[in-house]
Amino acid sequence: MTRFQSSLRLALSAGTALVFVAAGTLAASGFVWRIYGEVPGMELAHKVASIAAWAMAVCVLAAAAAIALPVALRPADFRGKLVLVIPALLVASTAKGMVFQVAEIGTVGDLIRVPLIGALSLTAVWIIMSGLLSFVAAMVVLQRGAPDAQSQRRALRSLQAASLPGLVLGLALAGALALAATHPLSKPEVFGAPLGGAPAGPNGGGQAGAPAAGSGQGQTNAPGAPVTSGAAAAPGAPAGNGAGAPGAAGGGAFSGPASPLPAMAVGTVLFFLLLGLMGYALAQAGRAQVDATLDATSAPAAASGEVGRALLAALALVTAGLLLSQLVRPARDNPPPQEAMAWDTPATKDLATRACMDCHSNETVWPWYTGVAPSSWLTVLHVRRGRESINLSELNALSARRRDRLPDSLERAVTRGSMPPFDYLLMHPEARLSEAERQQLADGFKASLAER
Ligand code: HEC
Repeated sequence: MTRFQSSLRLALSAGTALVFVAAGTLAASGFVWRIYGEVPGMELAHKVASIAAWAMAVCVLAAAAAIALPVALRPADFRGKLVLVIPALLVASTAKGMVFQVAEIGTVGDLIRVPLIGALSLTAVWIIMSGLLSFVAAMVVLQRGAPDAQSQRRALRSLQAASLPGLVLGLALAGALALAATHPLSKPEVFGAPLGGAPAGPNGGGQAGAPAAGSGQGQTNAPGAPVTSGAAAAPGAPAGNGAGAPGAAGGGAFSGPASPLPAMAVGTVLFFLLLGLMGYALAQAGRAQVDATLDATSAPAAASGEVGRALLAALALVTAGLLLSQLVRPARDNPPPQEAMAWDTPATKDLATRACMDCHSNETVWPWYTGVAPSSWLTVLHVRRGRESINLSELNALSARRRDRLPDSLERAVTRGSMPPFDYLLMHPEARLSEAERQQLADGFKASLAER
């Protein structure tokens, strides 16, 4: 392996680690963005940091693509192709996950909860898994039989491009930290008591790259005001006010560190260290020579036959993957109702059935595609989390407090349009409610719940 290649590998490793540290830091500091949300400049810093994180991720993925794609086009018979297309397929899978994240497909409802980071949706987990695998594949390619010199240079340029958003992101994080740390709310006596709130809001503040974006519940709490009033009550407020936080159960997860700032600070310092490492590796690679003799061995295969075979091999692998994924079959059930909703009018029931009941009751309609992976995974997750949050067939399962707040949370979800989730609407056009229907449903919920 030449010096150029080893520097490129180091830069790619640092770049990948940067993306993960950035996403993790942004997610872990979701609570910071929320409680300090109204400090001047904070919102801007958050926006800049999120956009820069995406830009950086795209650049690093482009570097991996520059390494993976030429390998897929290397001359080989079909069986050889099945192996050669794997790196490119993994990069494409990561890109797909990122597009889904932006398009809000598979982003509602937590798949897992990670300590400190918070909730991860199906799509977030998808991005993390395929991103890591893409990285490993690119490293393997660089290790054994690197792509041609031009592709390596292209990868280098992508990583160089990543350093600019990287720098912007680091500065935004540091700026936000400084703003928060100097704010009166950061006084030790304010954060002395364990925080009662869930770090990641009900909408999972922790989706990679875009944390807290979807969880605006706590916004109305002015962080300035609480300083004079009860100390611990103030920081806890955002989560408490959150529209019926299903995350409340996981609320204890954050009671360790009293202030959310240290975690963010650690992430930021780590980020700058990695940024320095990447800069060093990029400088090294810039000085080294690309091994042009590789070009002779891995002749760029412009022949259209290679493209066709590569596509065919990719298709075969995707098909095999889809078939294999059918083995994971989460249960689709409709348990018998317990204390079900008593509807005020059939019209309310009809609207709720159109828009909400598939996920918030035991009367879920399971169309055929909900039995086919991977859409079965998403629907079952939606229904499971939806029922956990509010099950209109099991009102008895709600705590007294949640039940008191139920009319308000339902109204808020309906009128704000945060429910039903966007990806559900793609498959269920009938669930799109007009402005008038939304109001009617919100009123209907209130009337129905008032009757008992
Ligand atoms: C595709 C499934 C699905 C549909 C349809 C759906 N929800 Fe949800 N709902 C969820 C999931 C999943 C959660 C949990 C959110 C989370 O974990 O981030 C949730 C959470 C909620 C919450 C808790 C607070 C919040 O805003 O996060 C309310 C209230 C709510 N839904 C109301 C509704 C109403 C009202 C409708 C109909 C207009 C509806 N939902 C339709 C899946 C759904």
